[in-house]
This record gives sequence, structure tokens and C-alpha cells, in this order.
Amino acid sequence: MTTTLLPGHPFLRYENKALHLEGVRLLDLARRYGTPLYVYSRAAMLEALAAYQRGFAGRKARICYAMKANSSLAVLQLFAQAGCGFDIVSGGELARVLAAGGDPATVVFSGVGKTRAEMREALRAGIGCFNVESEAELEVLSGVAESMGMRAPVSIRVNPNVDAKTHPYISTGLKGNKFGIAHERVLATYQRAAKLPGLHVKGIDCHIGSQITEEAPYLDAMERILDLVDAVEAQGIRLEHIDFGGGLGINYDGETPPAADALWTKLLARLDARGQGERQFMIEPGRSLVGNAGVCLTQVLYLKPGEQKNFCIVDAAMNDLPRPMMYEAYHGIVPLDDSASAPPRVYDVVGPICESGDWLGRERELAVRPDEYLAVLSAGAYCSAMGSTYNTRARPAEVLVDGHTAHLIREREAISDIFRTERLVPAGP
Ligand code: LLP
Repeated sequence: MTTTLLPGHPFLRYENKALHLEGVRLLDLARRYGTPLYVYSRAAMLEALAAYQRGFAGRKARICYAMKANSSLAVLQLFAQAGCGFDIVSGGELARVLAAGGDPATVVFSGVGKTRAEMREALRAGIGCFNVESEAELEVLSGVAESMGMRAPVSIRVNPNVDAKTHPYISTGLKGNKFGIAHERVLATYQRAAKLPGLHVKGIDCHIGSQITEEAPYLDAMERILDLVDAVEAQGIRLEHIDFGGGLGINYDGETPPAADALWTKLLARLDARGQGERQFMIEPGRSLVGNAGVCLTQVLYLKPGEQKNFCIVDAAMNDLPRPMMYEAYHGIVPLDDSASAPPRVYDVVGPICESGDWLGRERELAVRPDEYLAVLSAGAYCSAMGSTYNTRARPAEVLVDGHTAHLIREREAISDIFRTERLVPAGP
């Protein structure tokens, strides 16, 4: 048997030219469940988590999986069973945590636009902490909690004004971003929070962006947060925890982000150096736990050679994989069967949606024929979760692979499900 590894994807390999995720041949899954199909590796998720767990060994720490990256129930169940809490941004995400058997006490609730109804649901469920993002939200949350005879546990999300050096749409810790409370307003906001009757100040929070591939922005943000912790506590307001957000990048196209264990060892050393090592620590990783644990399988429908470009038209589209269209993001694209029977050609890989922005990869050399299958790599994060039904395309099925076993964790949506909640108007006279 010949085995070829794919760099950066430890659980994905060609065995005798057939792409396998863990012990499962992906061609078999594409045929059994149809395409487009998302497939995730349980071992890859647990290995990514283990790097964080090593970095935090012996610490008072909690890893709150930022479930916006991939909120499928079986994925949440896996992280809950592995001891994670969750970072949520809506009442819908809270409902998913509860449905997956997660413990609400381990949940932190982020987001700039929490509604009163969402605050009530979260208080009723007994979540661990609200990460408050504005002074106005603080007042509203206090009022909601008071009306329920409760005190809401809060952290103030600080905007540390640090450049995460990532795509502008996923950079969140700069002054011009809508997130968090400006550095210079933080002390006043804590003083106000400490006086509000419906609040219980618990901690401090920040998140500077996503797909961060350098350690410097993290180190900068850490210094700024520790300065603020000192300043807040000098006012007599005790902070039980620091929540440092998520954002660690993954290898999509040869990027070399720091490994989670090495990064956290370094960051925690800063914490120790400033005498803060005993404090409870929380983080909210999303992409780095799931991104490279997943692929999206797709079938080639047509090859369309052209004067300027060759198009490889596949059955997955921007509604299934929105990252290329939204951020000009790169995802690797490889064949499921690497025996390369067709002549190699350079293609733009595009979907069936009626928009020129519907592309999955540009200028990719592929040796494929119609009806053959491809895998879009690094599709575990922000793909299924950001999917839509644009062009009335049903959402794909999802499979979780565990060794040689494949579990169907989401059925392919039926077209009738897409318009189930719609109504025709009564016939006119
Ligand atoms: N915590 C907060 C408050 C966040 O806003 C986010 C992500 C995370 C944690 C998790 O960040 P991660 O570890 O996944 O980088 N759709 C974009 C990414 C948007 C990230 C939004 N916030 C993409 O596909 O690149």
C-alpha cells in the first residue's frame, strides 16, 4: 500500500491513491450520502483541542469552544464531552448547547446585539457569564436581571486597539470595529457595572480577531489586558477571570500560525511574570479546533474549457462554502481519487449559483473528468455554519468520522424543508 500525507492535515491521507479521512475512504461516503457533503474527523478535533489542553495543563482554565465556527449538535456534543464550555452569540446557539447536552454554567455569551429575550433565556438557563460589549447593553442587562430577581454575571469586553493583522472583515480589536468597549472607557464602565443592582462583575474579556497567524498581536493584547486588570482592581473591583477570546489561525495555504500549546505557554508565562498566574483563565477558540478537521466533498458536473479560463463546474457552491466569495479565502481542492487519469489543466472551480462570485478556487491545476469527486479542504470551520439556501439549494448532509466508522450527523435537507414556513396568499376574488 502506498500512503501520501497532506501537509497540515494529519488525519487526511491518500491510501493507494484514494483519499481517506481517518480510516474511511471518502469516495465511499460521497457515493453513499451524495454530494455536497461535509465530513469531519473526530480525532482531528480532539487533537486540536489537546494542544490547548497541554498549554493550560495545571492551570485554572476553561476552553469555551466558539461554536459559531461549527455548531452541528454532534460537534458540540464531542466538545462538551471533552470538557469544553461554549462561547455563544445568540439565543439560538444557547438552544443548541442545551440540545447537545452542554452545561449552561460553562457558557459565555458574546455579541454586540443581545436582545432582552436572549438575556432572559440565558439568565433562566444559568449561563456562566455575559461578555458585555457596550455601556447601553450593561444598563439593559442589569434591568432585565433585576426584573427576574437575579444578578447577571458579567465581563466587560475590552477593545484593546490591537491590530490582529488579518482580513479586515475578521479583525475585531481595532478602534474602528463595532466590538467591545473602547480602552479609555473601560474603567468608567467597570465603576458603573459595580454599582448596577442587577449585575455581578466577574471578569474581563477581549477578542482581537480571527485567523491570526502571528503571536505578536496576542502578546500586545495580553499586556494591555493585564494593565487594565491592575487598574480595575485598584478601584476595588475584583476580577475573578480573564477571558482572552479566540482567533488562532490555521494552515489554509501554507500559513504557519503558532501552535496552541506553544502560544499559550508563552502567554501564560507573561501572566506569571506579572503575578497573575493564579487567576482563572478562559479562551474562546473556534476555527483552530475544527477548521482543518473537515472537508467538503463535491462532484464535478461539467468541464468548460474557454479562451481565457477553463471552468470546472462542481455541485458545491458559495451557499455551501461562502468563505472564498466573502473573504477571497483560499481552500485547498484535491481529488478523491488521485490516479490522475485525465490530463492536468488549470481551472477555476465554480459552483452552479448564478453569480460570478460563486467560485471555490481560482487557477487550480486538476486532473479530473466529469462525475469525479473533489474535496475542498479546511472546511470544518465557517462553512456549514455560514451556509445558506440561496438559489433554493438544500443544505448538505454531514458525517463525523471516528476511526473506521462514519456517523451521519446531519441529514441532507429536503427541498420542502426550505419553504416549509412559507405561505401562499389567499386566492383573490
Ligand atoms: N470569540 C469571539 C467573541 C468571536 O467573535 C469569535 C469569532 C471567536 C471567539 C472565535 O474566533 P476563531 O477562533 O474562530 O478565530 N467567518 C469568518 C470568521 C469570523 C469570526 C468571528 N468571530 C471566517 O470564515 O473567516
